[in-house]
Amino acid sequence: MRLRRSLIDLDDLTGDELRAIFDRTRAFETHDPGPLLHNVPVVNLFFEQSTRTFTSFNLAQLRLGAIVVNLSPKDLSLAGKGETIEDTVITLAAMGVNLLVVRHSEAGFPARVASAFDGHVVNAGDGAHAHPTQALLDLYTMREEFGQVRGLNVAIVGDILHSRVAHSTINGLRHLGANVTLVGPEFFLPGDYAREGISIERDFDAVLPHADAIVLLRIQRERFAAMPMTDDEYVARYQLNGERLRRLPERTIVMHPGPYNRGMELDDSVLTFAGWRYAMQVHHGVYIRMAVLDFLVNGSTVSA
Ligand code: NCD
Repeated sequence: MRLRRSLIDLDDLTGDELRAIFDRTRAFETHDPGPLLHNVPVVNLFFEQSTRTFTSFNLAQLRLGAIVVNLSPKDLSLAGKGETIEDTVITLAAMGVNLLVVRHSEAGFPARVASAFDGHVVNAGDGAHAHPTQALLDLYTMREEFGQVRGLNVAIVGDILHSRVAHSTINGLRHLGANVTLVGPEFFLPGDYAREGISIERDFDAVLPHADAIVLLRIQRERFAAMPMTDDEYVARYQLNGERLRRLPERTIVMHPGPYNRGMELDDSVLTFAGWRYAMQVHHGVYIRMAVLDFLVNGSTVSA
């Protein structure tokens, strides 16, 4: 048996551990597990904006009975008083803080925190690198819908290059045996993303008839200088709209990690489409995070 210290990206988890987290998530959705993190001090360190991830980590921690402190960058002695992040987390550990949830615009920042902190660290999104709990809830949503992820045709569409969600979700989908097709223009999807188990498609219309799940992504404009094409060109080639929805098989579900931009990667007809699973993803997100926190703090019964 091994105890997990931290979750930095999805490949920190074995296939068995992924399944154990999914089973725990389902159990928590059915029955309130009670205060499994009773009086465990946790600190959320969010250096970047967040609505969904921040709120659902907070709700998950509170539902498990943890003691929750939220620190935002303006409250820290980091920039203003010259303290390093390593010294900050040594300080938090000395107060008995047991778990940190960290979001930062720099790829690798949560791993740096984990190497200095005597406790558990969960990556809540670092730069364009990884966002493992979002990937877990995406995979869980597909699994709940179709029974298993293996063999599903999953198309991820849009700004893959700048999306930490896409990077983690691609990892997880490959791990669980889905057929992954990435869809987008060269600028958002360089050819070197193609490798075993991943195909690249420039033409969105070509994937519509075969997709079990479509994952849409926001264009992450804060991560690059200039759009290589006009918004109108992007919309014409890659927006999911009423006309494209009509070409999907009846079983197809449409997902989005949020925040979604109406008029860009989707139009309003997607929001009333029968297969739109955004709210379901967000709902699962609270329970996935409860399962991850319990798994890290209380350990797993999975043998490694
Ligand atoms: C994303 C993020 O911040 O990585 N949202 C999320 O956490 N669900 C995606 C985004 O910002 O577009």
